[in-house]
Amino acid sequence: MNATAETTQGRMRGAESRASRILVVDDNEGIRSYLASLLEIKGYQVDTAEDGRSALHLLDSGASPDVIILDIMMPGIDGLETLRRMREKGDETPVIMLSVVGKASSIVEAMNLGAMDYLNKPFEEEELEATLQSVLEKHGMKEERDSLLKQLSEPDPGAVCINPAMRKIQNVINQISDTDVTVLIQGESGVGKEVVALSVHTSSNRKEAPFVKVNCAALPSELLESELFGYEKGAFTGATGRKQGKFEAADGGTIFLDEIGETSPGLQAKLLQVLQDRTFARVGGNREIQVDVRIVCATNRRLEQMVRDGEFREDLFFRLNVVSILIPPLRDRREEMEPLCELFLRRYSALYERPIAQLSDRLVSSFERYPFPGNIRQLENMIKRIIVLGNETSILEEVLGGSMSGSGGASATDSGALEGILQRAEANAGTVPLKDVGRQAASEAERQVIEQVLYHTSWNRKQASKILNVSYKTLLHKIRESGLEGE
Ligand SMILES: Nc1ncnc2c1ncn2[C@@H]1O[C@H](COP(=O)(O)OP(=O)(O)OP(=O)(O)O)[C@@H](O)[C@H]1O
Ligand SMILES: [Mg+2]
Repeated sequence: MNATAETTQGRMRGAESRASRILVVDDNEGIRSYLASLLEIKGYQVDTAEDGRSALHLLDSGASPDVIILDIMMPGIDGLETLRRMREKGDETPVIMLSVVGKASSIVEAMNLGAMDYLNKPFEEEELEATLQSVLEKHGMKEERDSLLKQLSEPDPGAVCINPAMRKIQNVINQISDTDVTVLIQGESGVGKEVVALSVHTSSNRKEAPFVKVNCAALPSELLESELFGYEKGAFTGATGRKQGKFEAADGGTIFLDEIGETSPGLQAKLLQVLQDRTFARVGGNREIQVDVRIVCATNRRLEQMVRDGEFREDLFFRLNVVSILIPPLRDRREEMEPLCELFLRRYSALYERPIAQLSDRLVSSFERYPFPGNIRQLENMIKRIIVLGNETSILEEVLGGSMSGSGGASATDSGALEGILQRAEANAGTVPLKDVGRQAASEAERQVIEQVLYHTSWNRKQASKILNVSYKTLLHKIRESGLEGE
């Protein structure tokens, strides 16, 4: 085992005060030291282990990395076995698997065992950084979501249901609480579809059973199929054992099929069968498996239009659309803005241990006119940034700057944007290193372009990724990274 002990500063997680800690597990000394030095340069704190046994030993003796990068192919206890043993012990540390191209089955197995992401060797430096950031953020989001759920289930959940349409939604959720009807939740990105889906589950008599979420847009079709339905031994090369899918994992509880509009025709057919008789077969198997699962799904696409365009099966649409919940955008429920701001100010001041900030009247009245294409998530991220930066200048610029108005928008070199960049640099380090300013100006410009494309595609991320010529996954990462939203 080879543990690098030096601590590096720099790559902070949000406003938390320590560098993220990565454990790299790979039997290849070259890859280990390459990853360690690369990640240390980027400001992560890195430990390394040369095989699964050493990694498990490190974890048993109290190491608590934020992320583990785990090679699949290792002598002795390989990556999959290491992951399996970790999960058996209840260790939920996010894991990124390292694989080689052509080993899809191992990746499927790793994802089924609870790996959060994977990288194919050889990978680009940028890809590694993007994957790491996305995993760190996703994990942070999960913690936030758990705390949100806790708050929502407390007697005073704050700003959830003030608007009449939202109150109606709450009534619908109450009315269906003792039924198993399928629910389709529609609404723009960031309006709270997942929050509503969770609430459907936690108000139902399935609340003690699992709530299993699957993002149908995040995986290629074949991977998604085995993720949902599992596979039998020998289903494909390397499928050395049988694997349960998410439908089985959700037995007795609720499965949340997010971004249902992105499923392929083949998968739509298989889903239809599950909806009709609650049975399916694992990939590569014939045996019918019966599950008792409540299905809740969500999309920010217009499913009815997709049916008319022949992109989504009509029969499936009818099966999904038994109870339909349409969540209005934030701009149509402006009375919720103020209480939401208060909720987020309280939440993030506590999380980042900062004094509770007060929003200026100018910002509050600008919010009232701002269209919030990213809805509650965008508002939440703005408040988060205000708390972390300790001032609202750059947010005010953004809201007033009219980058959404279609009139060209602010460019990263506008004095306002530059001022924001300078303030951020100052807030972070007390200095303004030129190379940081350059990098931040570039990401500011990138953020603005992404925001505009999302605005013009009505936040259809699939379409936006095509326009921007990046993968869906990269775009999701960039959206999160730039504070436009988080998953
Ligand atoms: N009623 C609410 N009260 C407080 N916070 C909320 C509420 N609804 C949503 N949020 C917050 O807004 C963010 C976005 O919510 P959610 O993830 O449910 O949106 P979504 O519609 O699923 O977005 P997407 O289409 O991008 O997946 C979450 O971080 C959540 O904390
Ligand atoms: Mg969602």
